[in-house]
Amino acid sequence: MDNRAVIDKIIKTSDASVEEIVSILKGSEDYLFEMAYRVRQEYCGDAVHLRAIIEFSNYCRCDCLYCGLQRLNRNIQRYRMSPDEIVSNAKEAYQAGYRTVILQSGEDSYYTRDIISGIIRDIKKLGDIAITLGVGEREYDDYAQWRRDGADRYLIKHETADSEIYNRLHPHSSFERRIECLRWLKELGYQTGSGFMIGLPGQTLETIAKDILLLKELEVEMAGIGPFIPHPDTQLRDESTGSSLLTLKAVAITRLLLKRSHLPTTTALEVSTKTNAFCAGANVIMRKVEPHSYRRLYDIYPRPKALEKTIAQERKEVEDFIKSFGLEVSDSRGDYI
Ligand code: 5AD
Repeated sequence: MDNRAVIDKIIKTSDASVEEIVSILKGSEDYLFEMAYRVRQEYCGDAVHLRAIIEFSNYCRCDCLYCGLQRLNRNIQRYRMSPDEIVSNAKEAYQAGYRTVILQSGEDSYYTRDIISGIIRDIKKLGDIAITLGVGEREYDDYAQWRRDGADRYLIKHETADSEIYNRLHPHSSFERRIECLRWLKELGYQTGSGFMIGLPGQTLETIAKDILLLKELEVEMAGIGPFIPHPDTQLRDESTGSSLLTLKAVAITRLLLKRSHLPTTTALEVSTKTNAFCAGANVIMRKVEPHSYRRLYDIYPRPKALEKTIAQERKEVEDFIKSFGLEVSDSRGDYI
């Protein structure tokens, strides 16, 4: 079968083999992107969802070899936002038009189960706003309580489906534990997001195929796929940046398999290339909203210094950006359909 026929088959059956995905990853992107765009149009419509992300602490207990926030990095100034600061930041985002806030941080045990609960409950009082949490691996009871408090979604990427690579890059945890967290979150009724990086050392096209198939197996509602970008203060400083074309192809294949999933054009992709993933089936974009003094310090991977604009200005810009592609701006919370 040629790749076009394989792509048509995947759309029809929502199923693919590792070999089929590898063959598409090796091939030309033209038909792939065209079909991913169409599938997105058919299943998700033309509305792009905007998400406000509050990166509220860059303290982290983890040793992820690729990440600038890793515990061992002493060249970084650490910060924590207070619960009041987080809630008033969410209020600003809400007033600027956002209907989802993502609360993201390093794995920081300073924010106990109850502190996070209080933040969730206070944000929910602001109005009809969805809360996505991204605070890493926690106990089942933490996840359960936050869900009862009203948290809607949870992001925790599997990062790589190769357990050997995973365990090498995450000496503080294990692949099994990661997958266990993802399954718990699904079970608790969160709209759950996973995702992975393109270009991690040791990764092959087969690994990427398995990454995509793992998203399918987990039936995630959201999936973030971005290129790996080496950070100078980490063990992987001398590795090369992941391919943005391969990233876009992986997004497109994910769209063919997980038709209604929310697929962001990831910040890492925006940083590493001028193209975005809307051409390849993405339908979500995120914008940081925490104060600029903190944004600089949330240094997961190097990125250019940004001009300091207000939340409302940035929201307007991203809306214009979306419209410039002939797409629409969603005014809903953008839940999984
Ligand atoms: N390059 C690209 N993405 C990275 N992430 C962490 N470090 C890097 C890096 N060096 C991604 C991971 C993580 C998310 C918050 O950022 O996928 O889940």
